[in-house]
Amino acid sequence: MASVTSLTSAVHQRLANALSAALPQSADADPLLRRSDRADFQANGILALAKKAKANPRELAAQVVAHVTTGDVIGDVEVSGPGFLNITVTDRAITENLAARAADPDGRLGVPYAEHPGTTVIDYAQPNVAKEMHVGHLRSAVIGDSVVQLLEFTGENVVRRHHIGDWGTQFGMLIQYLDEHPHELDHKASEVSGEEAMSNLDRLYKAARRLFDSDEEFKTRARRRVVDLQAGEPHTLAMWQKFVDESKIYFFSVFEKLDMEIRDPDIVGESGYNDMLAETCRLLEESGVAVRSEGALCVFFDDIKGPDGNPVPLIVQKSDGGYGYAATDLSAIRDRVFNLKANTLLYVVDARQSLHFKMVFETARRAGWLGEDVTAYQLAFGTVLGKDGKPFKTREGETVRLVDLLDEAIERASAVVREKAQDLSEEEIAERGAQVGIGAVKYADLSTSANRDYKFDLDQMVSLNGDTSVYLQYAYARIRSILRKAGAARPAAHPELDLTEAERALGLHVDAFAETVAEAAREYAPHKLAAYLYQLASLYTSFYDKCPVLKAETPQQTENRLFLCDTTARTLHQGMALLGIRTPERL
Ligand code: ARG
Repeated sequence: MASVTSLTSAVHQRLANALSAALPQSADADPLLRRSDRADFQANGILALAKKAKANPRELAAQVVAHVTTGDVIGDVEVSGPGFLNITVTDRAITENLAARAADPDGRLGVPYAEHPGTTVIDYAQPNVAKEMHVGHLRSAVIGDSVVQLLEFTGENVVRRHHIGDWGTQFGMLIQYLDEHPHELDHKASEVSGEEAMSNLDRLYKAARRLFDSDEEFKTRARRRVVDLQAGEPHTLAMWQKFVDESKIYFFSVFEKLDMEIRDPDIVGESGYNDMLAETCRLLEESGVAVRSEGALCVFFDDIKGPDGNPVPLIVQKSDGGYGYAATDLSAIRDRVFNLKANTLLYVVDARQSLHFKMVFETARRAGWLGEDVTAYQLAFGTVLGKDGKPFKTREGETVRLVDLLDEAIERASAVVREKAQDLSEEEIAERGAQVGIGAVKYADLSTSANRDYKFDLDQMVSLNGDTSVYLQYAYARIRSILRKAGAARPAAHPELDLTEAERALGLHVDAFAETVAEAAREYAPHKLAAYLYQLASLYTSFYDKCPVLKAETPQQTENRLFLCDTTARTLHQGMALLGIRTPERL
């Protein structure tokens, strides 16, 4: 493991040492270090400490300055204002730090692993069987995938769970119809495309619905099927499985388009907990956590009331004996805590399901399934809005098919790539178009904090200017092209050289990658990483405008600048990968 101490923590350490030398009674006081644009860093912690020690802040600050070790990392430190410290690090420290990052044999740019990794079970990318995927499913998949990458990068043991909607009374009608029209899904999985699979399911659904609504006898047969399904009657189960398999063909095709790895064994849908449901209910009833109310098994909460002021319960079992969404989620908690040994349960689910999760978590706490040592957290995301600011719908008011959206994004992106392309073949344009288009969709989703709504605006998403993935991808491709032109595979650093302001700013920001990743992972906040990467590309652009690379003053300076380019490119590449976005070598 070759983790590199960041300049921030090196400076922090030196200041903390100086602080405790100057003021021994506050041994582990925090100097409150921040990046600053007056100097490289500013420490604001002395004011409060002086107040506590009844000392003069400027005097205390001067004493701290006298104890600061300078020359290696810190070049200069001075008191400013009422008792702040302005700290400048040396050019040498910046270059040496980046050189250590670049030399990390694990290719992690010196980013350390988390100190206390645990096991996180993350519930994301959970579409519903026999139904089209929509933008809500897109958000869960995109955010969830990025959080998985971030957590795994910090060393967390991550178990993925795709809690697909694959169970419920709606299957009675479908199964009955299929049983009466057995030729309908009579093919091997390999024979149909995702698109065909979905249109098969759609056709079946519509036909079954029509019959269900018009034919009383079919309705009765369909209802009987629900009973057979719940009883696990083998022939009925086999039919149900056909629907699940056909849906998976479709899901996998969408995830592939999204350039996202979803593994079959991680798909544990609602049906995966069927064997636990009765026991879940028994345990809740025996412990008194749930009570019978008008035949249904319910959990009540003091603070959750409907508009009429009456308490709204969580229904674990309906009065007809059927189990619903809550029973499944409670059983899943037992599985994730007791079998998968999770320390953290994470749910990447629409904010509109927040009440459900609030009640489910509270019930599991009362039942003792969620102890003090387990965190359950809904990473709730907001709604995708159309350009008009209303929930995203087609002109006809229908839900937009996710596939159509993705195809349109790829098409728009291909047009952008084609326009800028100089020497790309048609095949390359198609490949880059997909990487740029899917990247644009993911980045738009990940660059605002998850809990906020965002507008799905393809024009903005594929724009070359502004906070878009295309901008970042072009920045990366430009750097790679410079490196190719220079023919420098791994340019060496020259710590002996003085740096310009633009070089320093870029170098300090590259150094902050490790802290950004740690924070984004800890807070499940990919948008912080996105903001960091956007700033990285911007700082690179101003560096490139101000500092000639191939025509620098000396060969050493050229190489050091190429080294900066290379380290920036690798940071961009790694950061984008953590967002699930490709960075093509050429665009
Ligand atoms: N299938 C659900 C939907 O489409 C999301 C499932 C969320 N996960 C869970 N454990 N309830 O809304």
